Amino acid sequence: MSTTIEQMNRVSFDADRIRADFPAATRTVHDGRRLVYLDNAATTLKPRVVVDALAEHMLLGASNVHRGLHYLSERATEAYEAARDSVCDFIHAAAREEIVFTNGTTAAINLVAHSFGSLLGEGDEIVVSQMEHHSNIVPWQLLCERRGCVLRVAPIDKNGELILDAYRDMLSDRTRLVSMVYVSNSLGTVNPIEEIIAGAHAVGAKVLVDAAQAVATRAIDVQALDCDFLAFSAHKLFGPTGVGVLYGKQVHLEAMPPFLGGGDMIASVRFEKTEYNRLPYKFEAGTGNIGGVIALKPAIDYVSAIGFDAIQAHEQDLLTYATDVLRGHEGLRLIGTAREKAAIVSFLVGEVHAHDVGSILDQEGVAIRAGHHCTQPVMEFFEVPATARASFSIYNTREDVDALSLAVRKVEELFE
Ligand code: ALA
Repeated sequence: MSTTIEQMNRVSFDADRIRADFPAATRTVHDGRRLVYLDNAATTLKPRVVVDALAEHMLLGASNVHRGLHYLSERATEAYEAARDSVCDFIHAAAREEIVFTNGTTAAINLVAHSFGSLLGEGDEIVVSQMEHHSNIVPWQLLCERRGCVLRVAPIDKNGELILDAYRDMLSDRTRLVSMVYVSNSLGTVNPIEEIIAGAHAVGAKVLVDAAQAVATRAIDVQALDCDFLAFSAHKLFGPTGVGVLYGKQVHLEAMPPFLGGGDMIASVRFEKTEYNRLPYKFEAGTGNIGGVIALKPAIDYVSAIGFDAIQAHEQDLLTYATDVLRGHEGLRLIGTAREKAAIVSFLVGEVHAHDVGSILDQEGVAIRAGHHCTQPVMEFFEVPATARASFSIYNTREDVDALSLAVRKVEELFE
């Protein structure tokens, strides 16, 4: 029997070796219990190389960028701009001018909602899906209030999949922007993003891809996708919190007005007229999270060295195993059973509230998230107040799934 590339990747993938790079993954909690960290959709743990880069900047070179003419400022600027080049390569953007640093996915979406949104008017339509994170709903609601635009919501089915036909029916010559999540943070659904983009472009609409949950799980090529905008956060990619990326096609970013005004985004300021800086600085007002941006580069280097074929094979193995194991628990309900999923499993244990599930699991050393996951419309659709959510990453193993299952058994025993 021949060995597939996927099987080879699974064999060569060494989660234990990876785990050793993440100090938090080997710590204990609650008086000596092994930490089983399954809250990776909220934020991933950080490898030493990322923390070292951040610490090195803070301790030895905490200078501002693009300003000082001294040694430290020049080194900080080089490292900051090297991170931009790294992001550009990582998502296959056509030019570094298309990479804008923000403080997260939420800030990136708000930037587009304000700047691109200011070019929209009464009756223009924005399409999102029912599985969006609040950060991809509320900025559009605010825009609709400001500009008289109309927000339309593409429905999902009982498996948590986008109903593509209903989405396509929603598109028209009034659609200006489709803003959709690539991978759902609460359901794990992987959306057919190519088809979503093609549908939007067919009616002349632009597309923003919320890649916050996708970026650590699959290779992203913005030119192949042909998306107009794409947003992600460093902290879900093993990088620091407070750093995000907005990718935008240069032609759009050129046409858009600045969002925030301040330092670095100007070419010259006079009371009569201010000239704005060139891209991408036009959208980077004020001093950003310089150390965080610098530390995003080693995070990208880290995942790139492992490779997304290997990462996906490992995470799909964990997803399949976890789904099978949890399905073995009588009375456990899975929320989100799409055909294409990332390694995120939302569930309910009988009638037990998800918060109680989360607390009991925590006592067993198993860290999950319980709540609505900032996706209240998803909870409303499934008619539940909250779910327990286990989300897996590169340092997790099948033993972690077994630990989750044993902890769920505790919940069942306590609530028998
Ligand atoms: N959006 C993050 C989550 O899903 C915080 O938990």
